[in-house]
Amino acid sequence: MAFTDFDLLVVGDANPDVIVSGAPRRPAFGQREHLVDTGDLVLGGSGAITACGAARLGLRVAFAGRVGDDPAGAFVLDALRRRGVDVSACVVEPGAATALTVILADGQDRAILTAPGCLGRTSAGDVPPGLLARAAHVHVSSFYLQPLLAEGVPELFRAARAGGATTSLDTNDDPSGRWEGLGEVLPLTDVLLPNEREALAVAGVEDLGRAVRELAARGTTPVVKCGAEGAMTIVDGEPLRVPAPPAKDAGEGGVVDTVGAGDSFDAGLIAARRRGLPVRRSLEVAVACGTLSTRAAGGTAAQPTWEEATS
Ligand SMILES: Nc1ncnc2c1ncn2[C@@H]1O[C@H](COP(=O)(O)OP(=O)(O)OP(=O)(O)O)[C@@H](O)[C@H]1O
Ligand SMILES: [Mg+2]
Repeated sequence: MAFTDFDLLVVGDANPDVIVSGAPRRPAFGQREHLVDTGDLVLGGSGAITACGAARLGLRVAFAGRVGDDPAGAFVLDALRRRGVDVSACVVEPGAATALTVILADGQDRAILTAPGCLGRTSAGDVPPGLLARAAHVHVSSFYLQPLLAEGVPELFRAARAGGATTSLDTNDDPSGRWEGLGEVLPLTDVLLPNEREALAVAGVEDLGRAVRELAARGTTPVVKCGAEGAMTIVDGEPLRVPAPPAKDAGEGGVVDTVGAGDSFDAGLIAARRRGLPVRRSLEVAVACGTLSTRAAGGTAAQPTWEEATS
């Protein structure tokens, strides 16, 4: 591996999250006003949260993505910079709207409303080749929210690997429910990071053990996030499960919200692999990063340091 300036380059989504907690399960229309418990404006987007989590864990991180030249875009870039993430490769698209998400949180469940704005125009071509060559690991987030980028992932990952980098992908949800387009991508993806529902959908089966075997057979290593149950992967054809610590151990108040827990998990797994930890220990660190991130509202406020994640 050549000298690299960045341990991690994240290519993907960044947007403000407006998190409203304590909303009624079915808000009434008809101009009714509901009073809720809390409202928070925080940095969101799977890619942005993973980038911040990795920076918090001590990695040198760059983020490449696309925002509009609006207040939401300025908020996102400022939040990333303040957490030590290099955003010099981000595209600021004149006249475009930055993606925006409203999350109605209800305990550990939530409804997510996303206006994608210019997210759909993010492409592999937005990533300067020089930057790709300077990164030791390349992570792509939210495959199904960025159709242009999705088309370019094979080329991006091939180029990353040709330069000696490793690769990972977090599909996140597919709003269309089709779960297509990964055939060429999986063999180029060192680590696939779906949650349980996403793993089943991508593999097209109903049993998680079968899903991880199926995904491994397609040429990637799946590491599946199972919420409060922890995580699961496959080693030498055998499933390996790592439990999550009880939620109360996440901190004084236990779980505040699980927004971005999966993205913080991704950061932990990438950091542990970069530091050469064995598979089981890497999963333990990733699970700790996911669980610790639930201590505060939003994705990034409670992300742990390396010391916290490994103690
Ligand atoms: N209720 C919980 N209690 C303890 N840990 C949790 C809880 N929910 C999530 N976690 C931790 O966070 C990790 C990732 O969670 P999850 O399975 O929710 O990912 P995800 O669905 O990809 O999340 P995201 O919404 O960020 O995409 C889990 O592996 C676990 O370590
Ligand atoms: Mg996820």
